[in-house]
Amino acid sequence: MREEQHEAIARWERRWLAVMGVMLVVIVVFIAYSLAMEGAHIGQLSQRGAPVELNRLEMFQSPGVRETGPNQFQVSVVGQAFSFAPALVQLPAGAEVTFFASSRDVLHGYQVQHTNINVELIPGEVATWRYTFNEPGEYRVSCNEYCGISHQNMIGTIQVLPAEEYAALQEQEAAPPAAEGEEPAGVSLALGAEVYNTNCVACHQATGEGLPAVFPPLSGHAANVYVLDGGREYLVNVLLYGLVGAIDVDGVTYNGVMPAWSQLSDEQIAAVLNYVLSSWENEGQVEGAPYQAEDIRPFRGEPQTPEEVFSLRGLIGMDQ
Ligand code: CUA
Repeated sequence: MREEQHEAIARWERRWLAVMGVMLVVIVVFIAYSLAMEGAHIGQLSQRGAPVELNRLEMFQSPGVRETGPNQFQVSVVGQAFSFAPALVQLPAGAEVTFFASSRDVLHGYQVQHTNINVELIPGEVATWRYTFNEPGEYRVSCNEYCGISHQNMIGTIQVLPAEEYAALQEQEAAPPAAEGEEPAGVSLALGAEVYNTNCVACHQATGEGLPAVFPPLSGHAANVYVLDGGREYLVNVLLYGLVGAIDVDGVTYNGVMPAWSQLSDEQIAAVLNYVLSSWENEGQVEGAPYQAEDIRPFRGEPQTPEEVFSLRGLIGMDQ
């Protein structure tokens, strides 16, 4: 009895195996036929959309909010390890907002708390979607794709203001800035603050203190570096070309990655350096506005790797 049952089951197994074998052959024949005769091809990387050169698109040269019509806004956002540009987006409640977003380096996420916005920022592609924020408030934006050592610090804010409040804010910003006699022509600390708050604040923090053992402080430290022989040049190289390697600041070791910011203009680089060098504990250590846009330009002709920038530290007398 046992033997018979076993034999019956084995027979069924053989039949089904034969059926699957036939199916496999049919599938392989179809694939081979379409490859050979129909000109079908298996997807290759080079056949995906050519990478979007972000800086060619006007909206990504200076990402941010634009009013495109009555109660209509466009927001362009760029993700880059480890920040969003802009980090702060201000919008009026109830407006129809069209987002355009992409990544400058690796895969990032753009997830907005309390909404159903959850988008992948893919290098070489532009994601677009529409949204209307009806409730005023602060919406936290976070990157939800692991993108490197400080992925968890890649955060931003969408601030939704009541429409009247938003309009008042716009008017205020459009007003000509109060004259500041101290400020040399051509470099604006206001621009520096804007660049800092868009690109640097996520890691180095609004206080310039950084985060212990993760992001080095700029407060006090930047001025100390600037006054070293070669320090002035070193700072420009760090901004333009980034920095990797274990560094020591005030006895604390940092082993992170400073991204290159060469996509910023000469004026923006000069402005943010001046802003940093005149803020927090750097204040008063360096006179006036040390950098002008023209000071940055020559450095563009001598590209460096982040490792080369790291080795400059030894040359100017920092013990790494
Ligand atoms: Cu960007 Cu995680």
